[in-house]
Amino acid sequence: MKRRIGILTGGGDAPGLNAVIRAVALTARNKYGWEVVGIREGFDGLMHGASTVPLPKGRVRDLLARGGTILGAVNRGNPFSHTVIAPDGSEQVVDVSDQALQRIHDLDLDALVAAGGDGTMAIAQSLVAMGAKIVGVPKTIDNDLAMTDVTFGFDTAILTATEALDKLQTTAESHHRIMIMEVMGRDAGWIALYSGIAGGADAILIPEIPFDIDKVAAKMETTRIGRRGYGLVVVAEGAAMLGGDQHYYIGDKGSAAGRLGGVGYLVGNLLADKLDADVRVTVLGHLQRGGQPTPRDRLLATQFGHAAVDLIAQEKWGYMVALRGNDIVPVLMTEAIRHLKAVDPAGDMVRMARDLGISFGT
Ligand code: F6P
Repeated sequence: MKRRIGILTGGGDAPGLNAVIRAVALTARNKYGWEVVGIREGFDGLMHGASTVPLPKGRVRDLLARGGTILGAVNRGNPFSHTVIAPDGSEQVVDVSDQALQRIHDLDLDALVAAGGDGTMAIAQSLVAMGAKIVGVPKTIDNDLAMTDVTFGFDTAILTATEALDKLQTTAESHHRIMIMEVMGRDAGWIALYSGIAGGADAILIPEIPFDIDKVAAKMETTRIGRRGYGLVVVAEGAAMLGGDQHYYIGDKGSAAGRLGGVGYLVGNLLADKLDADVRVTVLGHLQRGGQPTPRDRLLATQFGHAAVDLIAQEKWGYMVALRGNDIVPVLMTEAIRHLKAVDPAGDMVRMARDLGISFGT
């Protein structure tokens, strides 16, 4: 049966989204003879009637190595809690999910691929419960989506972070400094953990393990006055001190306008106070989200996009493609959004890091 399918990219972008779009478009056309259209600006665009983008072969051919998403990304726009301004000027949150469903119908889409993180999967699953025909593709540089071993975008982010730490290492060594590098990771410390181990950090601070700044200072003092003569700390933006809160640099904590970040400066200032040492702080920020995907992310994104089209052929609505071991398998979106995939503080990777002498500030 000839079908017309749509694809949207929800939430923040991640390297590899364009490779997913390419794989979906090529698989749909070559394997099934279906037409594919892109929906701009994620679910926000779907609700607001944003224009669609035809995705013939010629449009997607050269997308493999391109960062970002040609469809645009917004990390707002939940049809189930949409903010509108009431006639009296007040803000009201309303459910406009029926508009999103109507739009899928108006666009004459037989099915939709939603590529995104936990927020996107939660919206997609709720629409599926209302009858929408959606399959999911897991994306996030944070690697915190459950039910898949890894999400695409993560490999590129840890390459960026590891290369940055390598660069900080050489200048730290020259100046006998303590270098703090803050990386992304709101609720999960995967980027900090993997880049910290790969880049030879002395301390790694992650949201899953609240840290004691005196323990971090003690570790830094040992490494700085010891044979190494300098110190490297990687801190995830969501890390917090024992008994303390996460650090926000814009807006109120937890508010929509709030931006998590700045814990690197907090740690840097405290270490500078406690130690007779030169301390410098680097915040990597969105460098981790930009640029070309690594070959591994391109490959994973391609496998995911290809498998998502097969899920549509099998009419497995409400399923998300996932990597389990070496296999690409379907998993229920409801399972993927049940809980966040956090670093296990007692897991192999953390235990190995501790055995190597890396401090977690505990
Ligand atoms: O989900 C990925 C992520 O990179 C988080 O680690 C980070 O806090 C967030 O996106 C920042 O997104 P934005 O600045 O686009 O709101």
